[in-house]
Amino acid sequence: AFELVLARSRMRLPVEPGESMADVLQLAGVAIDTLCEQGVCGTCVTRWLDGEPNHRDSCLSAEEQLTHVAVCCARSHGPTLTLEL
Ligand code: FES
Repeated sequence: AFELVLARSRMRLPVEPGESMADVLQLAGVAIDTLCEQGVCGTCVTRWLDGEPNHRDSCLSAEEQLTHVAVCCARSHGPTLTLEL
């Protein structure tokens, strides 16, 4: 499990092993669109600000992954991951 920190909304949301960041965001009422939910389409791609994302998508380049993350499938290597939401 890790904690999602939302920079704009000032929310902290726990993400348990069985759920995706997109699930947690949608349950918290944060608008995030998803389509494929498999890291392919890029619909859910969001800017991240701090932490160490564990990228699992196949749509972002290595360079894009330095600033953006597909929240339908990525996880976090560290205890917290901060998104620009
Ligand atoms: Fe398609 Fe996340 S919903 S990449």
